[in-house]
Amino acid sequence: MRARNKKNCFKRLAACKDILIQSPDELDFIPDGIELGCGKGAFVIELARRNPDKKYLAVEHNPNVAVVAVEKVMASKYINNIRFFVGGAERLNDYIKPQSIRRIYINHPDPWPRRSKEKRRLTYQSYLYMYWNLLRDEGEVIFKTDNRPLFDYSISSFRDNGFLLKNITYDLVNSEYMEDDIVTEYQAEYISKGQPIYMLTAQKQSDFVFSESTDRDFVTIPKN
Ligand SMILES: C[S@@+](CC[C@H](N)C(=O)[O-])C[C@H]1O[C@@H](n2cnc3c(N)ncnc32)[C@H](O)[C@@H]1O
Repeated sequence: MRARNKKNCFKRLAACKDILIQSPDELDFIPDGIELGCGKGAFVIELARRNPDKKYLAVEHNPNVAVVAVEKVMASKYINNIRFFVGGAERLNDYIKPQSIRRIYINHPDPWPRRSKEKRRLTYQSYLYMYWNLLRDEGEVIFKTDNRPLFDYSISSFRDNGFLLKNITYDLVNSEYMEDDIVTEYQAEYISKGQPIYMLTAQKQSDFVFSESTDRDFVTIPKN
């Protein structure tokens, strides 16, 4: 996302420090769900509104984008169940207790189409290894994209790394899943252009464990 620099961005973020996580001990709850790359916050804000009894963490590494989401929540009288981490998704391990998370949401992530940038894709195997460690048994990653090559890549990546794939759709808008879907900013734009939206759920299987290996970055092996 190419976002213009927002005037006084860091001052504005500092004014919202009550809902920002800046060091690990500031996260004083276990989130029910985490959104990675939350952009301007439409998805996580609606998710939190629909589930007032649950708590959420939204992660966004671009402060010029994050400030929009953070200020929306600060201004709301009703939404008090979201905290933001303005930083990279790759740092989640610093903040989140292993095996504690029920759902991770990844909506329309940057596709990084060049092979040389594969490691930046949020469904690259080192990210999946991190998600695996953070998720409870049977916990889920819910992934949406408008990018077919990234979707195909992600299906293989989740499968190769021991996740069980469910609820796959190549046309979310015309599927049974649309009724409960929360449309993100990017998604709305793609839908208005008539482009298909792809979605899947990748579930952690409790009878597999990730293990580090020397010949691949990470592999899954059956538990004993
Ligand atoms: C294409 S936008 C999609 C925004 C939003 N999820 C939506 O669907 O409207 C991708 C967002 O992910 C953020 N992002 C990309 N890589 C990230 C990372 N490693 N950690 C945190 N945020 C990231 C970008 O800054 C950008 O705001």
